[in-house]
Order: sequence, then structure tokens, then C-alpha cells
Amino acid sequence: MGRWDLEIVELSKTFGAVTAVDRVSFAMSEPQMIGVIGRSGAGKSTLLRMINRLTPASGGRIVVEGRNVLELRGREMREWQRLCAMIFQQFNLVPRLDVVTNVMLGRLNGHGAFKSLFAMFDRGQIEDALAALDRLGIADRALQRAETLSGGQQQRVAIARALMQRPKMILADEPIASLDPLSAEVVMKALREIRDRDGIPVICNLHTLDTARAYCDRVIGMRDGRVVFDGPSSELTPTAARDIYGAEAALDESVTSTSIGKAEAPAWGSPVVAGA
Ligand SMILES: Nc1ncnc2c1ncn2[C@@H]1O[C@H](COP(=O)(O)OP(=O)(O)OP(=O)(O)O)[C@@H](O)[C@H]1O
Ligand SMILES: [Mg+2]
Repeated sequence: MGRWDLEIVELSKTFGAVTAVDRVSFAMSEPQMIGVIGRSGAGKSTLLRMINRLTPASGGRIVVEGRNVLELRGREMREWQRLCAMIFQQFNLVPRLDVVTNVMLGRLNGHGAFKSLFAMFDRGQIEDALAALDRLGIADRALQRAETLSGGQQQRVAIARALMQRPKMILADEPIASLDPLSAEVVMKALREIRDRDGIPVICNLHTLDTARAYCDRVIGMRDGRVVFDGPSSELTPTAARDIYGAEAALDESVTSTSIGKAEAPAWGSPVVAGA
């Protein structure tokens, strides 16, 4: 995996009178696990969707390897979308297809889906899909229909599908918001393991501060479309939390924390501090 730099410069999005993302700038020059936190409506999803070109930007630049990603068209834009695999809160699997086929669909992204669908998947693709599922600990579910899996299992299938895209970056939009605490922990550990083992950077929208603290190297706090905090998780002080969530919310632990990560400190040793 070659190293590459991501630079986001004054990225903005307006929907009519609403400025959802307001001149956001940040750079990443080594593969990090970045948690993007903020209240509902802060602009987290819009930011990720602009990076992946799912939502057109109103202004700014996203520079990777010297090129502005926002100017890519056609085949090059689809190639970019393959390189930054998205993971969603609602998993976005094809419910009636079996797990291994869902994972293999990750390989179709960007190049002639119809043509490929009518060709059979080759043996190598099936083996890659099974290896990805095995890595996520769910190879035994390969032939089950996706809709019969638990939420946590479905999200792991979605991560396996993302790996099949051979991504250079993973963008996860609230990947644990629909999961119980234990499943949430398994999913966050899987994302962290991909960052640590493969050196694939992960940008992950999260509702809660303590999850970001437990799993991310770096936290970007958004409020009203703007970045109000950008730094190591360890520097996320109560004052910073107030800037991100507002004074009333920061005092209310239920807004900024979930039970995830409180039971045990994660293996990589960053301290887990409950609440703000
Ligand atoms: N398609 C759209 N049309 C109009 N307004 C939109 C659209 N998408 C988002 N917005 C607005 O942009 C702002 C940011 O929304 P966004 O979904 O990015 O926030 P978020 O931080 O992801 O919130 P949540 O935590 O609830 O997911 C909100 O005010 C939202 O209403
Ligand atoms: Mg969102």
C-alpha cells in the first residue's frame, strides 16, 4: 500500500439557505483513524459524502496525489469511489442475497456492474470474499441470506465488502449507531484492526465522544458545519467537548457517551475516560 496524502481545503456545502459544511480544512499525511464527532446536523455525513463524491460539493478542494478529487469525472470518479469505500449506519447490503455474494459485490463497484453481474464470479474472487469474511470472523455465515444476520454481523459483512474494493481509505458514517454495545465494540475493533494491520486510514463519524477517545488517534469536532476541534483524542478536554456539543449537552453524559469501551481498555492502550 503506497503512502498518500489527503488534503481537504475550505470544503463547503450549502443546501439552499443552510450551510451544512462550512469551509472545512484538514490534512492527513499518514494513515490515521480519525473520529468525526458533533451533534446531529453538525455536517458529519455531508462531509463524508462529499469526500466520496456521493454529494456534490459547493466549494473547496479535496487533493489526493496532487489532483483535485472534486474535478474527476466518469471512470476516474468511479475509481475514486472504489478507493474510498463507504460504510453506512444501515449496512446497505442486498437483503435477499447471501453473505458471500454481498461481499463480492464490492469488486463490481465502478467497472461495468451489469456486464460483470452476468459473468460468473471467478474462483479467485470467491476465495478473496471468503478470506475477508474469515478475517471479520463470520466466514461460517457465507451462505446465509444477509437479512437473516444480526445487525453487528451485517455490519461486519459490509466491512468485508468494503475490503473487497481494495480501498485506500475507509469512510464510515455512524457504523455503530444501530448496534448494541457489544456488537459496536466488535465493529470498532475491526475498523481499528484494518487501520493498524493494513495501514488503511479510516474516517469514522461517531455520535459519542468516548467511542472516539477509545478507538481514534485523532478527533475532528464539528459544530454548525465548522471544525471546532482537531487534535489527538487525548486533548479532548471538557472545554473542547463544550465547544463541540454546547454547554448544556456536554454536561449531559448521555449525549457524549455510550457504554461501549467502558468495560475494558482496548488492547492498543489509549485510556478510556467515561463522559466529558
Ligand atoms: N439533502 C439535503 N437537503 C437539504 N438539507 C440537507 C440535506 N442533507 C443534509 N442537510 C442539512 O445539512 C445539515 C447537516 O446534515 P448532516 O446530515 O451532514 O449532519 P450530521 O452531522 O450527519 O447529523 P446526524 O448526526 O443527525 O447524522 C443539516 O442541517 C441537514 O438538515
Ligand atoms: Mg449523519
